[in-house]
Amino acid sequence: DEQKAQYRAKIKELLQQRNAVLVAHYYTDPEIQSLAEETGGCVADSLEMARFGRDHEAQTLIVAGVRFMGETAKILTPQKTVLMPTLKAECSLDLGCPPDKFSAFCDEHPDRTVVVYANTSAAVKARADWVVTSSMALELVEHLDSKGEKILWGPDRHLGNYIQKQTGADMVMWQGACVVHDEFKAKALLDLKKVHPDAAILVHPESPQNIVDMADAVGSTSQLIKASQELPNDTFIVATDRGIFYKMQQLQPHKTFLEAPTAGNGATCRSCAHCPWMAMNGLVAIAEALEHGGESHEIHVDAELGKQAMIPLDRMLAFSA
Ligand code: 13P
Ligand code: SF4
Repeated sequence: DEQKAQYRAKIKELLQQRNAVLVAHYYTDPEIQSLAEETGGCVADSLEMARFGRDHEAQTLIVAGVRFMGETAKILTPQKTVLMPTLKAECSLDLGCPPDKFSAFCDEHPDRTVVVYANTSAAVKARADWVVTSSMALELVEHLDSKGEKILWGPDRHLGNYIQKQTGADMVMWQGACVVHDEFKAKALLDLKKVHPDAAILVHPESPQNIVDMADAVGSTSQLIKASQELPNDTFIVATDRGIFYKMQQLQPHKTFLEAPTAGNGATCRSCAHCPWMAMNGLVAIAEALEHGGESHEIHVDAELGKQAMIPLDRMLAFSA
């Protein structure tokens, strides 16, 4: 613990020296989230991270999350230095959507508006008409559908199915999934709900349809946190990465938050509903990134590709403003 305190102090100093700000996602470990809070950075969902990084005056952004979040920051503000604790922090949705194959899929459907989730590479974003995050995807698809547009959606099939069901929009979909949310089990969730009949179920829409069907609230990480404050229940069963419990518990200390089961036997699995790539963001790696920067920490996006990808990202931020 003493060592941790030393690292925290060192990071605080480095942030000042480098005119840098820490931008963290709700799935990072509590010690990273609290550090961002203490240093005037932000802890947020992927949409708010993008906006905060774009609008903050700091010359250097250190993004604690996964690579697409760092890339998004760089695309939106190419003049800033964007560092990450590790560039090895991937996302299964991004990995499962290679730009060449996705582009060929788009070519097969030239009449469709291409809407991609932020959890993608710069090259996939560059191929899109719109980028969305889970906090505004539903509204955007509603809007496009009302104008009679047909949609090509990628890469998360569960989020796509959820939106399709809600809006009735004409959508063809890339078949990607998040390795974390794909693991929630409906039967075990039902069993847990029987034990806690008064609990409200909060679900991130990257979860399978049968989990979403049981939800009292469905939404992005920030929307789920809001629901945990606004719903009158004392107990919540939460189907998303367990990193989110830090903020929920902080805002509602008297409420009880339970992990939705990821194993079929009804037991909650302490290590399952946690993104392995988010878990790579640690204090040591943040200090190292700020101190040394360089190849293993600094995000680079090809300038031409970045310009292309900025168009649908700007649209996303303008639409959700
Ligand atoms: P949010 O936009 O809800 O923060 O989701 C990002 C993510 O990666 C969820 O798995
Ligand atoms: Fe990607 Fe899933 Fe990890 Fe989110 S939780 S970053 S969608 S792998």
